Amino acid sequence: MNLQDKVAIITGASKGIGKEISLKFGESGIKLVLAARNKALLTNLKNEIESKFTTEVLIIPTDITKENQVTTMVNKTIEKFKKIDILINNAGVGRFSRIDQFSIEDYNFIMDVNVKGVFLTTKYVVPHMIRRESGHIINISSIAGKNGFKTGTLYSASKHAIQGFTWSLREDLKEYKIKVTAICPGSVLTSFGGKSPDYVEWSIQPEDIAHACHYLVTESDFVNTAELIIKPRFNPRKIQ
Ligand SMILES: NC(=O)c1ccc[n+]([C@@H]2O[C@H](COP(=O)([O-])OP(=O)(O)OC[C@H]3O[C@@H](n4cnc5c(N)ncnc54)[C@H](OP(=O)(O)O)[C@@H]3O)[C@@H](O)[C@H]2O)c1
Repeated sequence: MNLQDKVAIITGASKGIGKEISLKFGESGIKLVLAARNKALLTNLKNEIESKFTTEVLIIPTDITKENQVTTMVNKTIEKFKKIDILINNAGVGRFSRIDQFSIEDYNFIMDVNVKGVFLTTKYVVPHMIRRESGHIINISSIAGKNGFKTGTLYSASKHAIQGFTWSLREDLKEYKIKVTAICPGSVLTSFGGKSPDYVEWSIQPEDIAHACHYLVTESDFVNTAELIIKPRFNPRKIQ
């Protein structure tokens, strides 16, 4: 498979899992569109990728909760690269609390990014994939989309929504030969939800999710992995 012909949009590329997916794809020669709100971090990442690998990187500062910013991001991508092969819906947020201590602002914050943002990016990318009867959409869901956990009502609800969204999207798009996959990671070592990246307990590295994405975009055309559940293998504290 010639990955150098592929064009990928990665949301939430500025740090954490999205950054590692961008580096892994950049190493493979995939042309990249990096979307997140923090322009400085995106610029640093573009410079890092272009200094290490031979590929093209377009940064488009985007708030995925804003419809006009999403349409601009998709239009600029098509203007530059003429097509979109891969969409990684990775941007996501978390706040954790007992239900009565959440505010309506917490609810809107989580649902806007984790659900509305994924709806908007997918809605505006899909016509370009349908046109070519080709493409792969990978949604970074969570193990919280399969289970519940203490303080996780809103986050878990948002990721359960993404699970339903993903399964239904597969049905919408399979006649157009477009692949759709959900990745459900356990805890990943990033600053997600305000936690310190040094916090290590039953944690996966963001590189492990990048590796999974690379596997998915190189798997045979005859298959479409529906879902990957990726859990840590051990508690690093217990082996020290
Ligand atoms: N870390 C975990 O333990 C874990 C486990 C399972 C699933 N996940 C999922 O993995 C994904 C990535 O998480 P992470 O751990 O890499 O978190 P992270 O390090 O906090 O990164 C989150 C990314 O989302 C972007 N983002 C947030 N709001 C945005 C918005 N409105 N528009 C565009 N981009 C936005 C951020 O960029 P800007 O701030 O620059 O916009 C950042 O690049 C999320 O969907 C999360 O739910 C994480």
